[in-house]
Amino acid sequence: MTAHRPYIIDDDETQVFRLNREVLVSDEVSRLETERIFQTCWIYVGHASELPQPGDFRTRIVAGRPLIFCRSQAGEVRAFFNTCRHRGAIVCRERAGNARRFNCLYHGWSYGSDGSLAQVPGANGYPASFDKDEFGLISPPRFESYRDFWFMCLDEKAPALLDYLAGATDYIDLVVDQSPSGRMEIIHGTQEYDIAANWKLLVENSVDDYHLPSTHATWLNFMANSGVNVKPLTNEGLVLPAKGGAVDLGNGHFTTDNVNYRGRPVANWIPLYGEDSKQEIGEIRSELTARLGEARASRVADTNRNLVIFPNLVINDGSSVTVRTFSPVGPARMHVTAWALGPAEESESARARRLDSFLTFYGPGGFATPDDVEALEMVQRGLANWRDDPWSEMSRGMGKPQEDQLNSDEHHLRVFWRRWNDLMERAQ
Ligand code: FES
Repeated sequence: MTAHRPYIIDDDETQVFRLNREVLVSDEVSRLETERIFQTCWIYVGHASELPQPGDFRTRIVAGRPLIFCRSQAGEVRAFFNTCRHRGAIVCRERAGNARRFNCLYHGWSYGSDGSLAQVPGANGYPASFDKDEFGLISPPRFESYRDFWFMCLDEKAPALLDYLAGATDYIDLVVDQSPSGRMEIIHGTQEYDIAANWKLLVENSVDDYHLPSTHATWLNFMANSGVNVKPLTNEGLVLPAKGGAVDLGNGHFTTDNVNYRGRPVANWIPLYGEDSKQEIGEIRSELTARLGEARASRVADTNRNLVIFPNLVINDGSSVTVRTFSPVGPARMHVTAWALGPAEESESARARRLDSFLTFYGPGGFATPDDVEALEMVQRGLANWRDDPWSEMSRGMGKPQEDQLNSDEHHLRVFWRRWNDLMERAQ
């Protein structure tokens, strides 16, 4: 990465922002990201609701590390590196389940749900210097939560999670406020798919409302045909020119924040959801208003927010709530995992509408995701020309004050890239 440095051109005076396309194709950049981004930032692990009972566990790859995310018999949410202290084998091979012990297949060492080494076959064959207490499963250096969203950090000197999240906590609060008891839960079932594109392209795509009318014309037509009036929401072919519709939340986090023209199948009725849902949606909205007051209820239900928590967690809070995270598999491939989130006490009918909305738009076979995947893979294929055409243009909306930024501008994309650039440059 010496031929085309810098990674970005960011010139306030001339209002030019460009991205060096090499950062989307380079093996070397991908390797550097592992140490400068994924080993220094707080990375999302999972939601406490995925572990309702003592002994429940999930295994997943986080920041490139195989992890066990579990609830101990004492009820504590824990995380362990999924590697045997004996010779390194994966200790827990199942994706999810409930267990009192994690048993290593290879030589049979077994660990308690608190990570302690419980049993060693033939323990008397070891010398006196061998101390079982020194061989419990190892936890990530930092493991903290905010409102049931658990993150780990591989840098023990990192700031506390709460400080790291900065202004993003306000937007997590808007999600959690949707539950009368403050208990949101991951709904059973996981979407998983790969995209043959660099992971950072999905960061951009998750909040890039500039692409909506062109990439998602089919969906907009579907909405219009379902009785949703999308016309007033367009401006010279651009959807949603909401003032202040893209917000910098600090530390590289950002969100779109705009009028919720899609409605919410549980709190903001539009014709798409059908007459028979009108009464229940009205009742849910009344509960929100009684509990939170008119202004806060409107804030929760009448705006649509796609939140990015740097570097790789997206919470789409709109017609459904989607929690989505994605990891690089080299420079030109990513693995995506997504879940639907909803209030724990939600009725069966509200839950069914939520899931329908989740699948209709964000599902791997929905209106949005296949088109987005195609767009991102087209970009990645085009980037094979990066040496001949090395810069991506990203100055839309540059120079305008924050309150005038539109969600169809590229202000929030620049927030991401500036933070990414700071971290990649800082360590050198
Ligand atoms: S590698 Fe696990 S018991 Fe040997």
